[in-house]
Amino acid sequence: MSQTWLEKRIKDLSLAGGYKKPELIQDSLKLDSNENYVIPKQFQQDILSTARKNSDVREYPLGRVEKLIQSISNFIGLPSNMIGVGNGSDQILDLILSNFASKKTKILTSKPTFGFFEERCKLYSIPVMTIPFSQTMDLDVDDFLQQSKSADILYLDSPNNPTGFQFPKDDLTKLVRSFDGLVIIDEAYGEFGEYSLSNMTKSQDNLVVVQTLSKSFGLAGLRLGYFIASKKFTSVFNQVLQYPYPLSSVTIESGILALEKSEQVRDAVNTIKKERTRIIENLKKYDSFEVFDSKANFVLFDAKGYYHRVYSALLEQGISIRKLGKIGDHEGCLRVTVGTKEMNSKFLLAIRDLLG
Ligand SMILES: Cc1ncc(COP(=O)(O)O)c(C=O)c1O
Repeated sequence: MSQTWLEKRIKDLSLAGGYKKPELIQDSLKLDSNENYVIPKQFQQDILSTARKNSDVREYPLGRVEKLIQSISNFIGLPSNMIGVGNGSDQILDLILSNFASKKTKILTSKPTFGFFEERCKLYSIPVMTIPFSQTMDLDVDDFLQQSKSADILYLDSPNNPTGFQFPKDDLTKLVRSFDGLVIIDEAYGEFGEYSLSNMTKSQDNLVVVQTLSKSFGLAGLRLGYFIASKKFTSVFNQVLQYPYPLSSVTIESGILALEKSEQVRDAVNTIKKERTRIIENLKKYDSFEVFDSKANFVLFDAKGYYHRVYSALLEQGISIRKLGKIGDHEGCLRVTVGTKEMNSKFLLAIRDLLG
């Protein structure tokens, strides 16, 4: 019997592969997903218990997303009609791709870039042009300026996952100004970096800056992302593209409360930045590693021929990091999230026991 259209579609979709989530390793020291454990557990427990009291989940959360958007607006200092929210920044990126890109629009990004974004482009058969990172894990802005002439959409995660690279602000500003297609700057790790481009959305109508409460606020499980863009883009996104109720009542109320506690978040971000330096300096002591600078809450290093061994030895000790393998000419890349001081010390000690 010939294949039905449904069977064919399912077969085609299965070829897309999908985003590979990290393996769930019970009771491990979780340094594999760029989560934030520096923010105390109490922070989210306080938020969630108040959010529960403020929520009536018998009702759709009418009017509350607007209140959340107002809180984000106060937090970032930009008007509320330039802000939209989503079920994680993943969902925002997905809605932008599925509605603004097509088989006929070319996207320019770096290689590597955020895995989920890449997978979604594959799923929608959107052609992607990439510029590879250099041997020192840097990007060349002139390469981007050159290639962007034949692109319709520019996507950059700034800082980049998994390298931790962030363009100098002047370079990225120049690139955004020179490009007249849609520019998506994903600042999931922006708070750990040197700058944000969010203010540029006031003068640059084709710019969308995506941010999230998953990383700096340590609320990855809440699934709350937002973006800043021109009023026209935001209005279409919010009124036409976004679902009527993309966030649960508890998520909305938790987000409002979390944004009131942003001082605690700032402290956690500062600790993470200091710990990032400690990890980088310690890993650099080993000749077997090549360690790259990072502006995010993780560190990428090439453990070369040792990378399987390092990864497995850490896992045996209950420490889970991300095994990436080959990036450009670097054969054995591993990415470790910056955790609490204690978590990082355990990780560094395990490395010392293995290589020291
Ligand atoms: C570059 C980048 N963008 C977006 C996300 C997704 O964030 P969210 O939890 O808001 O969906 C991640 C998560 O790892 C990321 O690395």
